[in-house]
Amino acid sequence: MSDKPYSPGLEGIAAGITTISEVDPQHQKLAYRGYDIEDLANHATFEEVAYLLLMGDLPTRAQLEAFKAEVAAYRALPEELISLLRLCPQTAHPMDTLRTAVSFLGASDPDAGDNSHEANLRKAKRLLGQIPTIVAAAYHIKNGREPIAPRPDLGHAANLLYMILGAEQDEFNVKVFDASLILYAEHSFNASTFTARVITSTLADLHAGVVGAIGALKGALHGGANERAMETMLKIGDPEKAEQWVLDALARKERLMGFGHRVYRWGDSRVPTMTRLAEQLSRRVGNMKWHTMATIIRNVMEREKGMHPNVDFPCGYTYYLLGLPIELYTPIFAASRIAGWAAHIIEQQDNNRLIRPDCLYEGQRGRTWVPIEQR
Ligand SMILES: CC(C)(COP(=O)(O)OP(=O)(O)OC[C@H]1O[C@@H](n2cnc3c(N)ncnc32)[C@H](O)[C@@H]1OP(=O)(O)O)[C@@H](O)C(=O)NCCC(=O)NCCS
Repeated sequence: MSDKPYSPGLEGIAAGITTISEVDPQHQKLAYRGYDIEDLANHATFEEVAYLLLMGDLPTRAQLEAFKAEVAAYRALPEELISLLRLCPQTAHPMDTLRTAVSFLGASDPDAGDNSHEANLRKAKRLLGQIPTIVAAAYHIKNGREPIAPRPDLGHAANLLYMILGAEQDEFNVKVFDASLILYAEHSFNASTFTARVITSTLADLHAGVVGAIGALKGALHGGANERAMETMLKIGDPEKAEQWVLDALARKERLMGFGHRVYRWGDSRVPTMTRLAEQLSRRVGNMKWHTMATIIRNVMEREKGMHPNVDFPCGYTYYLLGLPIELYTPIFAASRIAGWAAHIIEQQDNNRLIRPDCLYEGQRGRTWVPIEQR
């Protein structure tokens, strides 16, 4: 047996140092650059938060306006990319299309080959503008429609809703959506962010890191959980059936997507804010069905398994109530998390050390070579 330290899934292992966000699982707290996530979700806009993550401090009004204008100017996609989206199979999951599109943008970025801090910031701002447009455009193209051009006069959240739904949404819906994007923007060394850091620690470029991160985010154990959580609720169909449905699923040893977390064993810091917004939205649209069902599921999971929802659980039905197509929930997550990914890639490359862990070998040893004719 080796004496190397080992933790399956790297649980509990500090794999790096960061100044971007701090998760405090004991107190169910999360702070971006020292600012409590609840304060940010209640008072900030996504653009302010993206600026904070990328630059380290909240912007002044002038800095914010300049940042918003610069990012908004990147929203329109090159015609070649629209053509590429048209080539993607109709059956492709939007996360696969997004991954392909970001890869294309990496190959054609004006700063390709430059990993300096300034070039990385420019690439980050471009992707902040481009990813939401890709998400919405790919969705419309897949459904046989023409993409809806971005509106430079709208904020990040309002514009993304507009491009997906085809109409400007009211202020309350935009605020709820904006807050969800703020909650999704960053979460320390989660699987996709760690993937991005591993990739870019080889001095591969920012887009390569983001492509890998999108691949990691798609999985059901990570970002894909918001889509699965809503699909589960639709399958249950009726709040009255929820308790028995969950008990049966647990008896079959199934995992309920949107529950559990590697780091938050006592509850996800983002859930109280997101649940409050989900409840307010439910009341406002006069549809309490999903919130009622969610509350029952949550109570059963806490009672039976001592397990709490993660942010994907309330986000799933919030997006449903906003009228967003389920297959876009994880791409929308990416349209927010790009801020955190880029901040981490920049932090990694500004002070780089190749990430290359060790492992324990448990395979065979000392085998004798056998020529192919004798096998
Ligand atoms: C997030 C997640 C991968 C963390 O997993 P982890 O830290 O590796 O936890 P483990 O896989 O060790 O699970 C510990 C126990 O809880 C159970 N468990 C974990 N998540 C569960 C869930 N969502 N539903 C039911 N049981 C769950 C496991 O089956 C295991 O039970 P056991 O000890 O009886 O075998 C896991 O909770 C999960 O799969 N959640 C659903 C996916 C999800 O919502 N992901 C989004 C995360 S933000």
